[in-house]
Amino acid sequence: MKKSKIICVMNQKGGVGKTTTAVNLATAFAAVEHKVLLIDLDPQGNATTGVGIFHLKHTVYEALMHLRPLQDVIIKTFLPCLKLVGSNNELAGAEIELVPLLDREKHLLSAIEALKTKYQYIFIDCPPSLGLLTLNALVACDFVLIPLQCEFYALDGLSRLLANVQTIRQTFNPDLKILGILLTMYDGRCLLNQQVAQNVREYFKHLILPVEIPRNIKIAEASSHGKPIIFYDRKSLGALRYLELTHYLLTIYSW
Ligand SMILES: Nc1ncnc2c1ncn2[C@@H]1O[C@H](COP(=O)(O)OP(=O)(O)O)[C@@H](O)[C@H]1O
Ligand SMILES: [Mg+2]
Repeated sequence: MKKSKIICVMNQKGGVGKTTTAVNLATAFAAVEHKVLLIDLDPQGNATTGVGIFHLKHTVYEALMHLRPLQDVIIKTFLPCLKLVGSNNELAGAEIELVPLLDREKHLLSAIEALKTKYQYIFIDCPPSLGLLTLNALVACDFVLIPLQCEFYALDGLSRLLANVQTIRQTFNPDLKILGILLTMYDGRCLLNQQVAQNVREYFKHLILPVEIPRNIKIAEASSHGKPIIFYDRKSLGALRYLELTHYLLTIYSW
């Protein structure tokens, strides 16, 4: 099999839809029988519970700290094509424990190395920071997907984020590409949302994905039930948009 495409979903802001996007794209890609691995790299473990896994024997922490091969911490989910590397708050320790290590930013990269032909797509859900966990994801991945909530400070954070990506490109990962910016929790009736979206489109035109994710209560409900929206309520607007985005990425987007 060809080498996996590794996509990290990142934004240093919390609550912008990273986990929701990682969980739903991974699920939707797997639902059409692509072999997908979802790696939860956030100590909050929301991607883990988001696919209905509430108890973990092994976590991404062990793989990241090279205590166990990544292969051995992979678990099954409700979908045959979707596998998970789960996380819980044990991972918070890694942010500090990695600091004194010589190759601290390459731990995830080397953990994934052996699996690179087993999955077609690997999605990494990042924590809301630009710390060592996120750095490991940026070094290990091929593509960065940036969910962006159209609120007042969105543009500020975005410039910093893009500068960081540029730094990683110049240092550890020259082939790193931006998959795109995904507008999330978009409410077309909200004037501020409209204005920010317009600004983002003006400044970052070439980076904006053509599908927007609306603010949709069903999405919030789905995560509290440990189900991806496309399985919780597939007719909801949230599910339809994530499916549209999946269709776009799988058929139109040139990787
Ligand atoms: N499009 C949306 N509409 C409504 N609620 C959403 C939407 N996307 C995410 N949420 C909810 O907002 C909260 C934060 O989303 P989440 O994906 O966990 O963000 P992050 O991973 O960036 O912190 C969650 O409770 C989630 O269910
Ligand atoms: Mg999250």
